[in-house]
Amino acid sequence: MASYRPGRDAAQAEAEHGITDAIKLASNETPWPPVSSIVDAVRDAATDMNRYADHRASVLRERLAEWLGVGSDMITVGAGSAGLLQQLCLSFVDPGDEVVFPWRSFEVYPVYTQLMGGRAVRVPLDGWSVDLDAVAAAVGPGTKLVFLANPNNPTGTALSTDRLADFLDQIPGDVIVGIDEAYREFNDPALGDPVVDLIDDHANVMVLRTFSKAHGLAGLRVGYGVAQAPLVEQVDKTMAPFAVNALAQAAGVAAIAAEDEIRARVDLLLAERAALVAELRSDGHEFPDPHGNFLWLPFGCRTDRIHLGLERRGVVTRPFSGEGIRVTVGSADENDRFRATLAEVLASDRQNRSEQV
Ligand SMILES: Cc1ncc(COP(=O)(O)O)c(C=O)c1O
Repeated sequence: MASYRPGRDAAQAEAEHGITDAIKLASNETPWPPVSSIVDAVRDAATDMNRYADHRASVLRERLAEWLGVGSDMITVGAGSAGLLQQLCLSFVDPGDEVVFPWRSFEVYPVYTQLMGGRAVRVPLDGWSVDLDAVAAAVGPGTKLVFLANPNNPTGTALSTDRLADFLDQIPGDVIVGIDEAYREFNDPALGDPVVDLIDDHANVMVLRTFSKAHGLAGLRVGYGVAQAPLVEQVDKTMAPFAVNALAQAAGVAAIAAEDEIRARVDLLLAERAALVAELRSDGHEFPDPHGNFLWLPFGCRTDRIHLGLERRGVVTRPFSGEGIRVTVGSADENDRFRATLAEVLASDRQNRSEQV
């Protein structure tokens, strides 16, 4: 079966290309280390590492529930939101069942579907956006699960909760819909909040979020899901014992307490994103408006060449061969380096091609 392909890290690129000083803009991580109160909480929790963690992560669930204004029986947690996506498949997909999702989208959807012996139904995007009507039309009697990444990875487009509500009205109540909001904090709040706007009326919807991106805890593995209590109960049954480790639980609790500091960092990153978008557009690039902490540059058949050119010069991005490059918005220095290196790669590509002609 296909393996999940993680983004390459800077050290891999340095070793392969014999370079130093590479930067990684390939996995949509936050460029800065976590805020100090989170690091302190993890350090304190480490002194109890000889004990198993609380399997249910009760304290973290309670804090999440208070924070989001829902009952604590409406919260589940997982080893990253990817862990919860896998639990949704384990809970609802038997061999031969269909899992429907837009494509291109987050790469674990087909991998997890195949892991269950399920059948992946990929619904083509409309341009770079999710085509909700086509997704609804693809749901049939064999469908158990729908995944919708919102914002979509890698194209960065997003849908409003009004449109999602219309979509859900067309979906049978026994088909579970996972709304994957890994990039929630970077999205436009005017598009609505699915936890507030959709969960009460839809017992088949789980909203998935993570501490990996905006909160800078990608290396710890902690994500959460919000749904009506019976759905949470089903998904909890498939959680591997102690899946959310003690350090990750402590970090999650500390991250909620550090909300203001995290918000300030998100605002900084959004300002960086706006600057990078404006600069790349002034350089002549066309791409969809981003709603996450990454940009989608649809280079089509030039993708592999441009990706390699960037990587050889120490800028590691995420290529989707024949389609485009996804680049994470980094610190101001990283973004400047990306933009300058891209211009250099494109100039050398143009020159090579004119020499060939
Ligand atoms: C759309 C989407 N969902 C989920 C995840 C998983 O994040 P994590 O498992 O770190 O919470 C990612 C990570 O890149 C993602 O892009």
